[in-house]
Parts: sequence; structure tokens; C-alpha cells
Amino acid sequence: MKDVEKVSMTSNKSDFSLDRSWPWWPLLPLYPYGFRRTLISEIIPNQIWSFEQLQGLYYVAVPVRLTVVKVSGGLMLFNPLPPTAELLKALNELIKKYGPVLSIILPTASGLEHKIALPSIARAFPEALVWVCPGQWSFPLNMSLPFLGVSSSRTKYLLQDGVPHEDCTSWIPLGPLDIGLGRFQEVSCFHHPSKALLVTDALVGIEARPPSLFDFDPTPLLFHSRERGDEPLFDSYEQRLKGWARLVLFASFLRPALLEIPSWIDVFRYSFKKGLRNPKAHFGLFPFIWKEGWEDSAKKLLGEKEPLLQVAPVLERLIFPRSKNTLFEWLDNLSNLKGMKWLVSAHFSALVPFDKKRIRSLKNNISSRKWADSQGDFSFLSSLDQGLFNAGIVPKDPLKAFKD
Ligand SMILES: [Fe+2]
Repeated sequence: MKDVEKVSMTSNKSDFSLDRSWPWWPLLPLYPYGFRRTLISEIIPNQIWSFEQLQGLYYVAVPVRLTVVKVSGGLMLFNPLPPTAELLKALNELIKKYGPVLSIILPTASGLEHKIALPSIARAFPEALVWVCPGQWSFPLNMSLPFLGVSSSRTKYLLQDGVPHEDCTSWIPLGPLDIGLGRFQEVSCFHHPSKALLVTDALVGIEARPPSLFDFDPTPLLFHSRERGDEPLFDSYEQRLKGWARLVLFASFLRPALLEIPSWIDVFRYSFKKGLRNPKAHFGLFPFIWKEGWEDSAKKLLGEKEPLLQVAPVLERLIFPRSKNTLFEWLDNLSNLKGMKWLVSAHFSALVPFDKKRIRSLKNNISSRKWADSQGDFSFLSSLDQGLFNAGIVPKDPLKAFKD
């Protein structure tokens, strides 16, 4: 076991090396801010590579992924990530072996965390074509792609302008849906040679074991594994598991049912204690109280033997509460793809077993329970949806705007 000082000593100082710097972080100021470490792994030999970085708020951090795919004559980049020198160096190794980056794909209309790095990664590969999902928007400022620095002369819209790499891929849209502030749509890609379906946010697989990315620096896990701000950060495998389960609950429900937010008086009472007066421990500021039974909620989201395939609760409650059929149509279209074996999504586990049988069981699971519940862990998400719905921002029929 190590206390927080020892944890910080074990952290590699080169975390702050220029190789990992990301100067554009103020555009979307998320942890770990200006220095992004990248975990690179070959997930399907000679076909698919996962480039992962952490991204989050107040140490509620989950992996976000760029998927690099071997296509005829070179490489396709699916879902941009901040192109740090470390990331580009690893990518250049693949380029030497497999050929140039031919295309950069932004397959989501809404996911700001995926589009924020598009201009800089596009500048790093000026010869590559940029393909984006139709209906791009951003909130609170609706910034057009040329405004973000993506030249319109080499930008194409998926499906409207065709699709890239037709000889080895199939492209399947999910949506569009009108979600009031803009459009939800993502275009998934089935890469035939690897038998992998590439998605952005639509489906994820989550494991009980924390992602390897936290092996570099487990601080977010250890921070959230505590009960109070005056507790030191102890490192053990159990603490990492506990911290990860809580991060998954945060990322899934934003405010899980068994999480209480204490008063600021209580937060300050337990903060600024000896050994914790440092930015790494957020000075002991810990505005959370986990109530008994939270582990049972987490268990429903975590796979023990393999990543648990699921529609993220945030999507269920905020994107699809009145359009489950759109999701089912997409799943049915996926079922028609021949030979599918894997799911590679932009968050959580890199490689998730995914075939017709699993799609059927996911559909059965959704059909056999209450969809977009308003109770329990879903109550906070439900209050957000209801607020937008009552204010007339979210339409009753999310498909209406796209009919005719
Ligand atoms: Fe995302």
C-alpha cells in the first residue's frame, strides 16, 4: 500500500513531457488537460489498433479511443483524438508498415469529445480525405467545420457523398434523430477483413477490471475509491476496482441514485488535511457520499468474464427515450452483416465480442425491462430529459424533422 506522496513519486515525471502535450485543451477543458498519455495496442493483428487517451471531469475519467484500421492501400482513422507527438510517432510506425493515412472519419454528428481534435489531426495528414457524419453541430456555440479549421475542399459527408473504402467496409447509420439542441446521428462501419463493427457512442462494453490506461497513473481510481476527503489515497487492486466501479456509475448516470452531494460546509470540514494539501488530491475536496448498496448498481454495468455489452444509460435516457425502434432498426441492420465477430467502440473496452447471438440477447434484454426508466439510477437523467421536454426543446417525435 502506498500513500498519496508515494503514489505521486511512482508517477512518471515524463507524463508532462512535450511528447504528450495538447495545446488545444482549453477548447474542451477536460482532465488530463494539456498532457495526454496515449495507450496504443494492436487489437486485431495487422488490421486494427486502438489509441486510447483518458478524458473526464474531476477525475471522472474514461477512455476515449481513436481506432486505426488497415484498408486497401493504407490506413483509416476512425474518431479523432488529440494528435500528440507520442500518438503521431506511433502512427508513423504503422504508416511505414501499412501505407499512408487515406481517410479521417468523424462518424458522429454530436459527440464534441470526438470532433474537437478533428482540425489538428486533419492538419497532421494534409493528403487524407476527411469524412464526417451529416448534420454536424456543437453546443453552446454552433461551430462550422471551416470555422474549426477543416477545409471544405477535402471534406465529404458520409452517405450523402458516398462512403470511403467500399471494397472492404459497409456503413450503417443510426438515426438521424432530432434531440432538440441538434441532431443525434452516428454512422457505424463494418470492416469486413477484421469482422469488426466500429461505433462511436451507440454501444459500449464495460469490464469490472479497470482499463490498462490507468496503469500509467491510477490517481482517478484511488481518488474516487475513498469515502471522505480526509482519507489518503491508498493504492491496492481492490481500491482500483472500487474506484473504477464508481467512475462507471458516474459516467453512466451522471448522478447515480446512491450518491449524495454533501453540503459545502461538510466538504470543507474534511479538506486541506495533512498529506492531501496538493492539487493531485484536489486538496481533499471530495463532494461525494456513497450510500450503502451502490455496489449493486455498479454490478449491473460491469462484465466479469467479458466486457458487458450495453447501450449507455445516458443514451438510453437522453437520446432514445422515445425512439427505441430506431435503435432496434439499427440493430436489425447490423444482424444482416455477415461474419461479424467484434465491436470496437470509442469508449471503454477496446474489443468486445459481438455477433448475431449477442445482438439478439441485447434486444431481448431491452424488451424485457422498462426502457428509459425514471426511477432509481435513472432519476437524474430523467429529470434532465423531462426538463428539456417540458421546455419544448426536445420534440415529441424525434423523427418528424427528417420525414419526407
Ligand atoms: Fe463519445
